[in-house]
Amino acid sequence: MYVCLCKAVTDADIHEAVSGGVRTMRQLARQTGCSSNCGRCAVTAAEVLGQATAQGSGQLGVARQPSEPERA
Ligand code: FES
Repeated sequence: MYVCLCKAVTDADIHEAVSGGVRTMRQLARQTGCSSNCGRCAVTAAEVLGQATAQGSGQLGVARQPSEPERA
């Protein structure tokens, strides 16, 4: 879904930015332009950024693979 209409930034774009190391709204704005114009998207962008950061991988709908069990 589009989060920022001014800069055409989607939630997937935000997750991708997080995968690339973005962790703050300032970094997100610098990298994607999100929230750098009218600012109406700021609250939603911050929520998506928080979710993406919490997921760690920054990937939508992709669960982390469990590590292989140790063999004795
Ligand atoms: S909707 Fe994001 S800056 Fe306007």
